[in-house]
Amino acid sequence: MSESELVSVSRHPLVRHKLTRLRDEATEPWQFRLLVRDLSQLLFFEATHDLRLEPWSMRTPLGEHAGERLAEHIGLVPILRAGLGMADAILDLVPSACVWHLGLYRDHETLRPVTYYNKLPASLAIDVALVVDPMLATGGSAATAVSILKEAGLRRIKLLGLIAAPEGVQALSQTHPDVPVHLGAIDSHLDERSYIVPGLGDAGDRQFGTQ
Ligand code: PRP
Ligand code: URA
Repeated sequence: MSESELVSVSRHPLVRHKLTRLRDEATEPWQFRLLVRDLSQLLFFEATHDLRLEPWSMRTPLGEHAGERLAEHIGLVPILRAGLGMADAILDLVPSACVWHLGLYRDHETLRPVTYYNKLPASLAIDVALVVDPMLATGGSAATAVSILKEAGLRRIKLLGLIAAPEGVQALSQTHPDVPVHLGAIDSHLDERSYIVPGLGDAGDRQFGTQ
């Protein structure tokens, strides 16, 4: 798939409104967490438009209904620590999803991701995995997370992020051209420390008040 086919950026007014509030330096951690929550659910909704359904008939109080239910098992893969708030929010929509935590941090000198925690189970009985992380900067963390999932045998993987840099989108699409990317926004560029401009700063610090 080409980059333009792989990458979707939400145009929804609610997403744009809430992203603006998320970026605001005056937004406090508790407000930031609520906004991450709302945005994650909105983007998850858009990113899962292709989930398969199966017939599911039941009785309403007034009669028979030939309904449907989700036929796919979902795995959520939050990249620690900033992805935690996204996974929690999505779990409220799909409580039966599995959650596999991947601990990656970006080394401040090399800017390369360092893996420090991996809670993937031995057997992955799911149909689609969603890697969730608010920020796609150089794309190194996301690409490493997807590689870990592929090495574990997963084939259908999507990435959900709130804000990306063009550099990160390009790097991820080149390394994993089979992984659809669903974003709230693509910003201008990376600065000299590889932070997204204008971005929102450090998503982990802003979510957990550790600045
Ligand atoms: C942030 C963010 C991503 C990563 C993005 O995590 O949540 O995981 O940086 O950068 P990249 O695209 O250049 O790899 P960070 O390393 O700050 O860890 P933290 O969530 O524990 O603070
Ligand atoms: N990680 C963040 O949290 N923010 C950025 O802008 C880049 C990486």
